[in-house]
Amino acid sequence: METHVNDSDAFGSNVLSVALIGPHEQRRRNLANALAMSRAATVREYSAYPAELKDASRLLEHDFDAIIIDLEASPEYALELVERLAAANTATVMVYSTRVDPNLMVRAMRAGAREFLADPIDVGALSDALGRASSRRQVPGGAKETGGKLFVFLGGKGGVGVTTVACNFAVALAQDCMRNTVLIDLDLPLGDAALSLGMTPQFSAADALLNVDRLDSNFFSKLLTKHASGLSILGAPGRFPNVPASNEAIGKLLAVARRDFEFVVVDAGSRFDLTDADWFKQAEAFYVVMQAGIPELRNTHRLITEFFKAEEPKLELVLNRYMPRSLGVDEGHIEKALSRPIQWKIPSDYATVRRMQNEAVPLASEDSTIGKIIQQMARSACGMPSKQEKKKGFSLFK
Ligand SMILES: Nc1ncnc2c1ncn2[C@@H]1O[C@H](COP(=O)(O)OP(=O)(O)O)[C@@H](O)[C@H]1O
Ligand SMILES: [Mg+2]
Repeated sequence: METHVNDSDAFGSNVLSVALIGPHEQRRRNLANALAMSRAATVREYSAYPAELKDASRLLEHDFDAIIIDLEASPEYALELVERLAAANTATVMVYSTRVDPNLMVRAMRAGAREFLADPIDVGALSDALGRASSRRQVPGGAKETGGKLFVFLGGKGGVGVTTVACNFAVALAQDCMRNTVLIDLDLPLGDAALSLGMTPQFSAADALLNVDRLDSNFFSKLLTKHASGLSILGAPGRFPNVPASNEAIGKLLAVARRDFEFVVVDAGSRFDLTDADWFKQAEAFYVVMQAGIPELRNTHRLITEFFKAEEPKLELVLNRYMPRSLGVDEGHIEKALSRPIQWKIPSDYATVRRMQNEAVPLASEDSTIGKIIQQMARSACGMPSKQEKKKGFSLFK
């Protein structure tokens, strides 16, 4: 493999080391220049793809923080290369192409690419992508600088929509926000998060919790099932009557998950017993899902007052199956009764939810109001601007 080296350590240790693989000379040069100008990366250029896929592993010996691959010269081969390199899970893999084609983007993402750079390269977008790669970088010693963010979904009562919202939020993180995300169903033993995404995984959270002594990154990864959106899933077992799940074991499971994923989404159902665990306090945010009925309101009130003392900033209220001007309790009354604002309102849409269940198409990838609101929740959780604020013509995943 021919290489052009262009790396100097002049920028210090805060700089990413990047491999740039681009058979097309001029386009590679342009990107290399943009990377050099960013002052955030040192670049090693490769003017050809590795001759064979198995040669790809040689690239990894260099310990690059990021590997950027031209998709255009030979898209199929490049995608296989992405998959191979992303599976190794050390460097952030990015792709670039002048063809901003949603299908190609989805395929690249499924192969494991974290970023899709539209060529000609936008300097701002490049710098954002480098920033994200940087925050994902391994520190010496192997541990990530920061663990992934934990989002916990729960409800005061079964049937309010915790699973529906949690699953689609996780899909939106993986698909719309292109974040490395895992969904863990802790509504044991009979949670149905995987099922609601049309999946029947071989392994479950019970396998992790029953083998907690040998639970590490490698073991954990083998228990996961990949959804078409790119989301990894660890479902509930659905058959063990009793899963011995101490909060300690769950804590370890989540710690392993947070080491490997940027976002860990937990469906906690109505498991109030989980709320006093140590790991619970590490959550980035809690989404309490509720409906506008009196029993739901009462339980939500209990949940909030008991577990989320006075000014818990991390708590977001999600009013599900909301119907404007319905005869039920209205929004104002709810906010007053709970003495906090409702952050998210998800309309009732039986037909859409039903279609999702029957056809296993996540709401979050649909052009429905529910889908859009849940996408918005996910974008806000990862600090992305809302869809409307975004540049026109850049709606990748419908
Ligand atoms: N916004 C909604 N509109 C219509 N039906 C919904 C909505 N949210 C949830 N449902 C339906 O309500 C039922 C319970 O939802 P689920 O997410 O399983 O609740 P939970 O996990 O809180 O028990 C499911 O049949 C689901 O399809
Ligand atoms: Mg549920």
